[in-house]
Amino acid sequence: MIGNASGARKFLAEFWQKKPLLKRGALPQLAKSLDRKQMMALACRDDVESRLVIYSRKNWQVEHGPFGKRELGRLPARNWTLLVNGLEAVLPQARELQQQFSFIPYARHDDVMASYAVPGGSVGPHFDSYDVFLVQGAGTRRWQTSRQRNLDLVAGAPLKILRDFRPQRELTVHAGDVLYLPPRYAHHGVALDECITWSVGFRAPGRREIIERFLDFMRDRERVDAMYQDPDLKAQQHAGAIGKAMLEDVKATLASIRWTDADIERCLGEYLTEPRAGVVFNRARHITPRAFKKLLDDQGACLALPTRMLTSGNRIFINGESAAIPAGAANIVRQFADNRYVPAPLRAQATVLDLLYAWYCAGYIKSGLRP
Ligand code: SIN
Ligand code: CO
Repeated sequence: MIGNASGARKFLAEFWQKKPLLKRGALPQLAKSLDRKQMMALACRDDVESRLVIYSRKNWQVEHGPFGKRELGRLPARNWTLLVNGLEAVLPQARELQQQFSFIPYARHDDVMASYAVPGGSVGPHFDSYDVFLVQGAGTRRWQTSRQRNLDLVAGAPLKILRDFRPQRELTVHAGDVLYLPPRYAHHGVALDECITWSVGFRAPGRREIIERFLDFMRDRERVDAMYQDPDLKAQQHAGAIGKAMLEDVKATLASIRWTDADIERCLGEYLTEPRAGVVFNRARHITPRAFKKLLDDQGACLALPTRMLTSGNRIFINGESAAIPAGAANIVRQFADNRYVPAPLRAQATVLDLLYAWYCAGYIKSGLRP
């Protein structure tokens, strides 16, 4: 969507995390990639996260899915939006859309959301905490944007609504137009007709979140079951005081905790590839390792739609798990992580075959080039 490598460099230097960008007609093929019927079907699934936002009599109302078909069929002609999250895990076209943004490392990618709105439909003036590319599918939407500093929200509203939105810019987008917004940039989109808008979202680990995650990781790794013992306990004057010996012992225990760069790398990779909540991996029908090797050599292999994969140094991370990259497998593993498929014949060596076979059995990868 951004053209070649120099387009990506320019985008990163001038716009990413800095200022909005509108690219007209950048992804025209999206106009027909999703429609009302498909959106409604997705919103009725219990493995897909969906919300309905209705604006009526100056009041915002939010309902959470899964919805019933009848319930959706009874909605009025104006002023509502149906939102569906995590589409990259269930729709091939959503995963393909996300890959259009591979000029941003996958470690920063979050999910792909789509909204279906009838005329007047909107989620209100708000800001998002992370970067987002708003890609117009079918129909037309009017966006108003503002780089206002005041991001106070309406108290008690069921969704984030800016209390005092002061639009500075207004634009009407059509199928294929892409609007990039940096984090915390105020915006308000209103459907002018029946319209679908895709949101390609990003994420970044919060400092607190990563600290908590690392402490959990260390706790699981340390496996210290020993208990404080005090066979030499001495009588103390004040029964209510924490004894010095106990304090020293705990200090020594905590001071003995050590970690390496490899621990940090592993913790981060496993955290970033953890599957979205509620995601389901369909386990493969059992085949023998031998039949599996033939399948790969005939058809190639690809990551299942919900799979998240990253690499760092000589480690591979997949769906919250990690392994050392087997000798001679760096190429295959990197192709999976960068392109999400490896063409036939894979000609994988035994060590990497074992790994691929385990992923295949778990439903993390599939045969063929398209999930
Ligand atoms: C929408 O698609 O209606 C809302 C997307 C957004 O503003 O982030
Ligand atoms: Co938004």
